[in-house]
Amino acid sequence: MYILGIESSCDETAVSVVEDGRKILSNVIYSSVEEHGLYGGVVPEIASRRHIDAISEVCQKALDDANLKIDDIEAIACTHAPGLIGALLVGINFAKGLAYASGKALVPTHHLRGHIAALYLTYPDLKPPFLCLVASGGHSHLVAVDDYTKFRVLGKTIDDAAGERFDKVSRTLGLGYPGGPAIAKAALNGDKNKYKLPTPHTENRYDVSFSGLKTAVINIYNSDNMKGVRTDKNSLRASFQEKIAQILSDNTARAAKEYGFDKVAVAGGVSANLRLRELIEEKIGKDRKFYAPQLSLCGDNGAMIARQGYYEYINGTRAGLDLNGLPVLPIDFE
Ligand code: KG4
Ligand code: ZN
Repeated sequence: MYILGIESSCDETAVSVVEDGRKILSNVIYSSVEEHGLYGGVVPEIASRRHIDAISEVCQKALDDANLKIDDIEAIACTHAPGLIGALLVGINFAKGLAYASGKALVPTHHLRGHIAALYLTYPDLKPPFLCLVASGGHSHLVAVDDYTKFRVLGKTIDDAAGERFDKVSRTLGLGYPGGPAIAKAALNGDKNKYKLPTPHTENRYDVSFSGLKTAVINIYNSDNMKGVRTDKNSLRASFQEKIAQILSDNTARAAKEYGFDKVAVAGGVSANLRLRELIEEKIGKDRKFYAPQLSLCGDNGAMIARQGYYEYINGTRAGLDLNGLPVLPIDFE
């Protein structure tokens, strides 16, 4: 069974064909990231326009690379939430037109569920239940994955997402967008213990907060500037990355132990961060198994949507041609 997965929730226009929910036959990704880099972050209007430019060609290439025609496809899965609404609507509308013209089923698929499904593509033997930290540009959630389409949110960020923080701090300290990879690279040349940064407090013990961390970084930088002192930027970047990784890994490991999960995973764009992976694996201990998506599937892609779309499809999820996008939708929606 071939599922076509369409993703357009942010700045990647991505289409993939996945066979039987397991084998990636094609995975085409067009990104407008460089253009957004000129503005220091994603400009929603530009993202939408680039999706419109690219989507037909990206979809055709995904079918060509898989050596298939649209008639061979069983169902069309598309990200319908959450994300930038104008960007989402391009992918949704394209998927609707394709479903209408070809008579195929249309399967709405949640973006963060897709990020989790990238784990199944990386580890064919991985099965729920497991605990997953989902950290991306817009979200930082600690999720109990009870089944392929059943989720419980145990905790989340009470202010900014981890990826968003990486992007903002990167900009403040003079590096571009996206900030995560830029900070991770710069941190290799810095001392992660040089700057002491605060651990923000939250009421729910599985929630996290990052806004105080950003303020602390900005204060250090500004006060150095005022005193005419040169900030050791790479060490400040390294200290910031270390703090975020410590906060997220502490939280994940605590939940794993208290809820009794023996499998612990990380997913989403921020899961490409090697220090975060290292710390989670270390803190959960040898009795628990750690999973992270292969690096090429951490960022947004169509294969993760096709893979999750497969589970949604066999679970009976279908959308009509009135399907709309939602900028916000909890991962555990019914
Ligand atoms: O999942 P994703 O590709 O898009 C969204 O759904 O938002 O995540 C993008 C986010 C960006 O904020 C980017 O800076 C961050 O993931 N990111 C990283 C790394 N690679 C990407 N953050 C930390 N370390 C990385 N190596
Ligand atoms: Zn994403």
